[in-house]
Amino acid sequence: SAATKFPRSPAFSRITSEDIYHFKEILGEKNVIQDEDRLSTANSDWMKKYRGSSQLLLAPGSTEEVSQILHYCDSRYLAVVPQGGNTGLVGGSVPVYDEVIVNMNRMDKIVSFDQISGILVCEAGCILENVGAFLANEGFIMPLDLGAKGSCQIGGNVSTNAGGLRFLRYGSLHGNILGLEVVLANGSVLDMLGTLRKDNTGYDLKHLFIGSEGTLGIVTKVSVLTPPQLASTNLALLACRDYFSCQKLLFEARRALGEIISAFEFMDCHSMEMVLKYLEGVRNPFSSSMYDFYVLIETTGSDEASDKSKLEAFLGRSMENGIIDDGVIAQDMSQTMSFWRMREGITEALVKAGAVYKYDLSIPVDKLYDIVEEMRSRLGHSAKVLGYGHLGDSNLHLNISTATYDEDIFAKIEPFVYEWTAKNKGSISAEHGLGLMKADKIYYSKTPEAVNLMASIKRLLDPKGILNPYKVLPPSLILPN
Ligand code: FAD
Ligand code: MLT
Ligand code: ZN
Repeated sequence: SAATKFPRSPAFSRITSEDIYHFKEILGEKNVIQDEDRLSTANSDWMKKYRGSSQLLLAPGSTEEVSQILHYCDSRYLAVVPQGGNTGLVGGSVPVYDEVIVNMNRMDKIVSFDQISGILVCEAGCILENVGAFLANEGFIMPLDLGAKGSCQIGGNVSTNAGGLRFLRYGSLHGNILGLEVVLANGSVLDMLGTLRKDNTGYDLKHLFIGSEGTLGIVTKVSVLTPPQLASTNLALLACRDYFSCQKLLFEARRALGEIISAFEFMDCHSMEMVLKYLEGVRNPFSSSMYDFYVLIETTGSDEASDKSKLEAFLGRSMENGIIDDGVIAQDMSQTMSFWRMREGITEALVKAGAVYKYDLSIPVDKLYDIVEEMRSRLGHSAKVLGYGHLGDSNLHLNISTATYDEDIFAKIEPFVYEWTAKNKGSISAEHGLGLMKADKIYYSKTPEAVNLMASIKRLLDPKGILNPYKVLPPSLILPN
C-alpha cells in the first residue's frame, strides 16, 4: 500500500495519557474522540484506498482552540492531519500512521455576508452545499461547485485549491479567495482575512496556503468573493462521434456562447456505461443508442429568452455541420439534475465497480484524449479505461477500473502515465493535489529548484514537520529519518 513507501518518522512522539488529559482541558471531554467507530471512519479515505491508524481525533470549535492544539502538538512533536469533509482523492486527508486528526466539522458558522459586494466570510468547516444554500437565499452563488459538495468543506476546498465544474466561468480559488485566517504549526494565528478585491501590499501570503493541502497551516476562516445568481441557466447534453468533435465543439462554443457559457464537461462512453450500470435511477438519455462521447454545456446569463435562443441556434448549427450527432436541452429541474448526476456520479460509480486507479491530469486539449487511448491499448482487456473531466479547462480524469486491485496492472500504468504527462508538458495534478499518492512524484511537474524552494518554505513555517507529514513533498526533504 502507499503508506508503506515512507517509513514513520522517529522524530514524532507517541500520544500519552497526559496528552489526552491536556487536550480535554483545551476542548472539553466530548471533543476529544477516541471512539473506535469514529476513528475507523476518520482513518479511512472516501475511496477506501488509504488507511491510517490514528488513535485520536480532536474537534476544535474555534480558532483559539486550533491554536492551542497546534501549539501543544508542536511542543510535543506530535504529528497532525488536518481533516475537512474527507472527500479528498489523493490520500491527503487521512493519517498515514498515528497522526492526531484535527477535524474541522464543528467550525461551521457563517461569519458575515456583504449584500453589496457579495463578499462572504465563513469558518473553514462550513460544508460547500450549505454555504451554497445560504447564498441562494441572498441571491448569490459560490464560485465553485463539485460532486462532493454535500460533504466537502470550504477549508478543504481552499487547502486543495479545488477546481470543479464552475472553474471555466469563475476561475481558480486563487482569484476568488480574498482572505484567509490560518493557524501556523506553532499555534500562532495569521490574520489575512482581508475583504478587498485589490491589495498589493507586499507578498500575497494567502496564496501559499491555497492548495498547500494542510502542510503549511490549518485554515480556520475564509473570505470569498461570490458572484450574483443570474436569472437563467440552461443545460444541454450532447453526443459526439469522436474526440476531435468534442474539441471542435469547445472551440465553437467559446465563440458562439462566449459570455454565457458556464461549464463544458465531457465523458466517454465507458464513463457513461459505468454510471448506467452502477447508479440507481440513471437512464440513457438517448434511449435509441450509445455514442462515443458526451458533452455537457451549461449556460448562465441574465436574459432567459435570448440565452435560450442563442443556445438552441448553436446546437442547431452544430447538428447541421456534424459536430454533434444528438443533443437535448434539459426541460426542467429534474432533468437538469439527472444530467448533472451522470457526470458527477462517475466517481461514485467507479468506487462501486471495484478498484480504481485515479489520475487527474492537465494536458493540452489537442492531446488530451491520446493518453486514454494509449492506456487502453497498453492494458487490453485486463481493465476498463475511462476518460472524463473538465474539458473546458484542459483537465482530464483518467481512471482505470478493475474488479480487484492488481499489481501487474499497476506496473503497466505507473510510471508510464507520469512520464507521458511530463513529456507532453502537462501536470500530474490538475486539481486534486498530490497528497500521499503523489508526494514522491512532484518532480514530474516541477523543477528541482522549485521543489527545493517549496521545502524551504515548509521548513520555515513548520520547522518540526508536524503538519500533514508524508504528503505533498518527498518526506526525505522535510523529515529526519
Ligand atoms: P479533505 O478531503 O478533508 O482534505 C483534503 C486536503 O486538505 C487534506 O490534505 C487535508 O489535510 C487538507 N485540509 C482539509 N481541511 C483543511 C483545513 N481547514 N486547513 C488546512 N488543511 C485542510 N476536487 C476537485 O478539485 N474538483 C472536483 O470536481 C472534485 N469532485 C469530486 C467529486 C467527488 C464525488 C469526490 C469524492 C471528490 C471530488 N473532488 C474534487 C476532490 C475533493 O472533493 C476536493 O479535493 C475537496 O476540495 C476536498 O475537501 P474536503 O473538505 O473533503 O477536504
Ligand atoms: C470530477 O471531476 O468528477 C472529480 O474531480 C472527481 C473525479 O475525478 O473522479
Ligand atoms: Zn474534477
